[in-house]
Amino acid sequence: ISLKELHTFRLPYRAHAVVELTSADDLAQLKDDYYVLGEGSNTIFTEDFACRILRVAISGYECSETEASYELRIGAGENWHKLVLKTLKDGMPGLENLALIPGSVGAAPVQNIGAYGVEAAQFISSVEAWDRKKKEFVSFAKNECGFAYRDSLFKQNAGRYVITYVNFSLPKNWQPNLSYGALAGLPNDASATEVMDTVITIRNSKLPNPAVLPNAGSFFKNPVISVQHFATLVARFPDLPKYTVDDNHVKVAAGWLIDRLGLKGTTCGGVAVHDKQALVLVNKGGASGTDLLKLAKLIKDKVYEEFAIELEIEVRLLDKKGLMSA
Ligand code: EPU
Repeated sequence: ISLKELHTFRLPYRAHAVVELTSADDLAQLKDDYYVLGEGSNTIFTEDFACRILRVAISGYECSETEASYELRIGAGENWHKLVLKTLKDGMPGLENLALIPGSVGAAPVQNIGAYGVEAAQFISSVEAWDRKKKEFVSFAKNECGFAYRDSLFKQNAGRYVITYVNFSLPKNWQPNLSYGALAGLPNDASATEVMDTVITIRNSKLPNPAVLPNAGSFFKNPVISVQHFATLVARFPDLPKYTVDDNHVKVAAGWLIDRLGLKGTTCGGVAVHDKQALVLVNKGGASGTDLLKLAKLIKDKVYEEFAIELEIEVRLLDKKGLMSA
């Protein structure tokens, strides 16, 4: 079976079987030898894949309310952006900053998707999953999910949990979140739809549409460095963008570092650094896993040489046996 349509980077590799999971109840009966995949928007197959793939396609949109919030229970196979659109249309704002993020609802907690000043974790109340080790259904309250920047318990224990449903709590006392630089131009009383439309416009101007130019979003994480390290860098590069993490650490923009090295547009075989956003690698056609790994290494080496920063890969790279180590 071709994996091309099953991941947005669209490398031409194959897997020997793909099983579609439409009901959580089937998990207890399944032979436990599969690799779990959602929409494949943060996963890249770098060669033919020897394992069976389980595509989570559980649907479901349940909604109730309390005095203070709207409570949602969403099937892991639902599309993330469709959820954002539907909640806004149904008068439940909150997810607008996360519009247009590719992928499924079940994948959202795994890497705690985030954009424009908001992370999914802020609105997740609990996550339901099948625990492949204990062979039982489990539920994690938000504070048990280990959420951090592009990180969670589910990512740390890759392969252990099959997320089946995600529960969200959207507070009724909604306020727009305009903290991210690019949204600062909006009025303080902007509506959720205005925020969403702005996010969509910004994303469309920088990020390639995977349906047109295959990619997997940000390829690297934005690195967190010490304030001392930042001080030495900012002396040399006064316009290096940073976000405060805590008293001792800042997060810097990896896209800026790569851009600064003049690497936008750099190609290796069929893979290139996107020319509008250096943090995104794209498949220009005919790319191979080797091209991708070569270009990733070149970027990592150059960034390390110039800034003494070790970039961490954000997407999931798979070789024939499963998850590769970074
Ligand atoms: N920048 C450059 N050149 C570039 C890219 C970025 O100078 O080629 C500068 C920008 O001008 C800006 C800063 O770097 O000052 C940050 O850039 P941007 O706002 O585009 O965001 P990012 O830090 O590159 C992160 C997320 C994105 C998310 C955006 C918006 C990560 C790894 N990436 O990117 O998430 O959409 O912020 O919030 O945290 C993803 O995870 O796949 C993803 C697309």
